[in-house]
Amino acid sequence: MSYGFTDRYADQIVLVTGGAQGLGRAMVQRFAAEGARVHFADLNAAAGAEVLASLDGDGHAFDQVDITDPTAARTWIDGVAADQGRIDVLVNNAGIIRDNRIENISSEDWDAVLAVSLSGSFHCTQAAFAHMRERRYGRVLSFSSMSWRGNFGQVNYVAAKAGVVGFTRGFALEGAKHGVTANAIAPGLIETPMLASMNGPAHEKLVGKVPMRHTGQPEDIAAAAAFLCSPEARYITGVVLDVDGGIGIGSSIR
Ligand SMILES: NC(=O)c1ccc[n+]([C@@H]2O[C@H](COP(=O)([O-])OP(=O)(O)OC[C@H]3O[C@@H](n4cnc5c(N)ncnc54)[C@H](O)[C@@H]3O)[C@@H](O)[C@H]2O)c1
Repeated sequence: MSYGFTDRYADQIVLVTGGAQGLGRAMVQRFAAEGARVHFADLNAAAGAEVLASLDGDGHAFDQVDITDPTAARTWIDGVAADQGRIDVLVNNAGIIRDNRIENISSEDWDAVLAVSLSGSFHCTQAAFAHMRERRYGRVLSFSSMSWRGNFGQVNYVAAKAGVVGFTRGFALEGAKHGVTANAIAPGLIETPMLASMNGPAHEKLVGKVPMRHTGQPEDIAAAAAFLCSPEARYITGVVLDVDGGIGIGSSIR
């Protein structure tokens, strides 16, 4: 697919968590292609370095950061703000799954899933908001999931992703008068390593429920993110955008 890329992110500093693969990588590449200086974080240093080497333009950086650690998240974000003088966009993308029926979810797997998606989004947003407020401009985009409405065998992930929706809506109210918007994307089935890690039959069964009858590509998410985080999305806050081929519409009798 070819895009008519613009330079709408020229001079902007964009932060992305979990940028070393999957949706994060596609967003890092898209923001860079639209002129941003992208600073991204991930646990996976080797994959992060590869993504960094692939980017258009200059001024990008990768840091190995565990966003579940509030001090590490704050040190990363304050460091970028000190070096670059601004943070325009924060994308809270990092997330993990530890799927199981409730009787088989350990407390470690419960905590781990909430720690990355929900608490990680909180730690990074709290740190970034301090800098965005000062300049009266910011875009915070967090990652929910089609699962936020409920999904079998995922109560930890459902809770985390519904939590991201609540967090986004609450924070949108606090950010609004400071020029900071907060939105979420709820992806459906998008071709990434996370989706590939789901077992075969479950994967086929799910794809059959997508009204468009196919999975999405990371670039589909990146295109939506590039709009929601842009200056022109200035009057949009507190929304959850389904990017899912229609699966979030609900049940179908066919
Ligand atoms: N792929 C899908 O179909 C889909 C559907 C719905 C929601 N999502 C959500 O979209 C986001 C991205 O998903 P993906 O499919 O690209 O996942 P992915 O597993 O392919 O990539 C996630 C990245 O996050 C990083 N990460 C994990 N824990 C981290 C931590 N503590 N600190 C920093 N980085 C960390 C991983 O190393 C990895 O590079 C997630 O929040 C996921 O829940 C994905």
